[in-house]
Amino acid sequence: MAFAIIAHSHTETNVALASAWRASESYGVLDPRSALHVLGPGDIVLARLGVRRTLDGIEHGLSDLVELERRGVRVFNRPEALLAGHDKLLSARLLESGLVPTPQTRLVGDDWTALASLLPLVIKPRFGSWGMDVFRVEEIRGLNRLAQKLAGRPWLKRGGAIAQELIPPIGFDLRVLVAHGAVAGAVRRRVSDGEWRTNVSCGAQRIAETVEPRAARLALEAVEMTCLELAVVDILPLPGGGFCVLEVNAAPDFGLDYNSDENVFDVVVERLELAAEAGSRLRALDAA
Ligand SMILES: Nc1ncnc2c1ncn2[C@@H]1O[C@H](COP(=O)(O)OP(=O)(O)OP(=O)(O)O)[C@@H](O)[C@H]1O
Ligand SMILES: [Mg+2]
Repeated sequence: MAFAIIAHSHTETNVALASAWRASESYGVLDPRSALHVLGPGDIVLARLGVRRTLDGIEHGLSDLVELERRGVRVFNRPEALLAGHDKLLSARLLESGLVPTPQTRLVGDDWTALASLLPLVIKPRFGSWGMDVFRVEEIRGLNRLAQKLAGRPWLKRGGAIAQELIPPIGFDLRVLVAHGAVAGAVRRRVSDGEWRTNVSCGAQRIAETVEPRAARLALEAVEMTCLELAVVDILPLPGGGFCVLEVNAAPDFGLDYNSDENVFDVVVERLELAAEAGSRLRALDAA
């Protein structure tokens, strides 16, 4: 039995997760094609394909994950689950169907004026990341201007855009890391001066956070709807109190600051090892 992280880059998170794996030999970080050459039945992978830099879809390799599963490799963050996390429209529909509070979300079609009833709103790529091309729109004129501005963007044609009810920003959000159905850590992101988006790439600061039970429960419910074994849930505080789930990140980067009591990579890997063990036991029962 061997383990590998399936990804296209050796990010700090990928390398740390690969070296925390102790239950078996670890191949480290492999791209999907190389994984097909070396892995076989009984092996375990954590798939960490992300959103493309061009914001028009998911990095290639989903079909290689399907093939790995067909060959008997245990894939955590199965291809369907990765899609459920990365496609912001699909995530929203899954959250709604599980009655998890989340902003109203619609696909942007040709007629942008049809979105007026959602104002004030946020327009963003359906497959977005890093806060790139995420726009806040307060009134109809702004909507028309944005429609013109985005008209030539390749991601708009290929991946599409979504419009989302704006949750009035109050300067921070929570990011809750969930591994195999349990909270493994969390941080608060505080926005930088003059910014409303909470992405670190937009200048936000990460601060250690002990997540309160209500937010932890929401994070677990959200992840359950996407069937992800490892995810980070973005939770927005509501101005009147309470929280809503903004999104579920399927290949999130995280660091040691997510857990001040234990090494977060060890915690995550222990949870995945547990999931693998539970899966093997189930299969053995099934075969008996
Ligand atoms: N509907 C919304 N209401 C309030 N704030 C929002 C809304 N949508 C986005 N934001 C703000 O913009 C930021 C970026 O948006 P979002 O998380 O949807 O995309 P992203 O960060 O580019 O994607 P990813 O988290 O997958 O990398 C959020 O962290 C949040 O601060
Ligand atoms: Mg985000």
